[in-house]
Amino acid sequence: MAKINQNYLQLQGSYLFSEIAKRRTKFISENPNAQIISLGIGDVTRALPQSVLTGLHNAVDELASEKSFRGYGPEQGYDFLINAIIEHDYKTRGVTLNSNEVFVSDGSKCDVGNIQEIFSGDSIIAVQDPVYPVYVDSNVMAGRSGNYNKETNRYDNIVYLTCNQENNFKPELPTQKVDLIYLCYPNNPTGMTLTKAELKKWVDYAKENKCILLFDSAYEAFIQEDDVPRSIYEIEGAKEVAIEFRSYSKTAGFTGVRCAYTVVPRELKAYDEDGNEMLVNDLWNRRQTTKFNGCSYVTQKGAAAIYTPEGREQIAALVDYYMSNAKVIREGLSSLGLSVFGGVNAPYIWLKTPNNLSSWEFFDKLLSEAHIVGTPGVGFGQAGQGYFRLTAFGSRENTEAAVERIKKLSL
Ligand code: MLT
Repeated sequence: MAKINQNYLQLQGSYLFSEIAKRRTKFISENPNAQIISLGIGDVTRALPQSVLTGLHNAVDELASEKSFRGYGPEQGYDFLINAIIEHDYKTRGVTLNSNEVFVSDGSKCDVGNIQEIFSGDSIIAVQDPVYPVYVDSNVMAGRSGNYNKETNRYDNIVYLTCNQENNFKPELPTQKVDLIYLCYPNNPTGMTLTKAELKKWVDYAKENKCILLFDSAYEAFIQEDDVPRSIYEIEGAKEVAIEFRSYSKTAGFTGVRCAYTVVPRELKAYDEDGNEMLVNDLWNRRQTTKFNGCSYVTQKGAAAIYTPEGREQIAALVDYYMSNAKVIREGLSSLGLSVFGGVNAPYIWLKTPNNLSSWEFFDKLLSEAHIVGTPGVGFGQAGQGYFRLTAFGSRENTEAAVERIKKLSL
């Protein structure tokens, strides 16, 4: 008899963005003439930069001839991309990495979802609340969550680090023992950031407590302010305690193309049952070489083109475009007297719903009255109840139209 993985029964509802898509589709089928503006899932809308297109086209042409054809590539990624990453994303920030510390993949969602596999099944995980749901759900699937408590809307065995207006959406250090801590900065969904001094507290804590920080910096390209670290490795000692996840999805329009990378430093250790030190890098390498056949050559060539002088200029223009959208949303909603957060160093705007509406009530109101799709804060965790997320990834025209529509609502 084929038995299912019972842990899956602990998952709550459907994946957040699938649920939103479902409600959107239903609304459209009932209101076929509605001009929907989607500021829900963080999916980009600008075309790929020219340099990326050239990189992709050239790579496709290479595959047309036996002389330059490529079959399976290295599971960890091609050196041309890894070296460009090290040179441009890290060396420029004073961080040195070796090529065996960077693992190219087809997306950060997969990497942040898969990374938990290499750690013990009884690891205690800590997440920020609100949180990108993949961190939680991947651990639920692996059996680390314990039962779901319907009163608190939280899992019994997960440690939640509440981020709210009182702590300016910056979590306190855990007060109980944890093994793995997921941090995301610039933060999805709140759009908030930590300063170097604030991030250093986490690195120091992880060192003292022998835990590992899983640092998702998918949105680092959107940082505008100086004192905001772009990589956790800018903090002294972080290589001993942190894995970093980066993505081209939002930076370079790769949500459909798919390319990302994960840094696992050779200094990073975890422990076996007998307390012996193990290199996390070796385990991740083992995992990837077994279960992943590498990101396609064509895609990696497209990603490498981002690091050319033209590529960097084009990416900067893309980031400026989205960050100008963020400003339009932030200023538009603030002018209505709404409490608005984020949107300064991140493409997400986090707002307090008006009149104490629940997150889903506000979702329904925006959808039915303004034909705008956003993301209910509670979908990111209980601490997100009464909040709502809008993304800056729409077109300028749609972003401005959305703000005008919201201004006309009675809030
Ligand atoms: C989001 O909207 O939070 C992200 O686009 C989801 C993702 O990157 O998987």
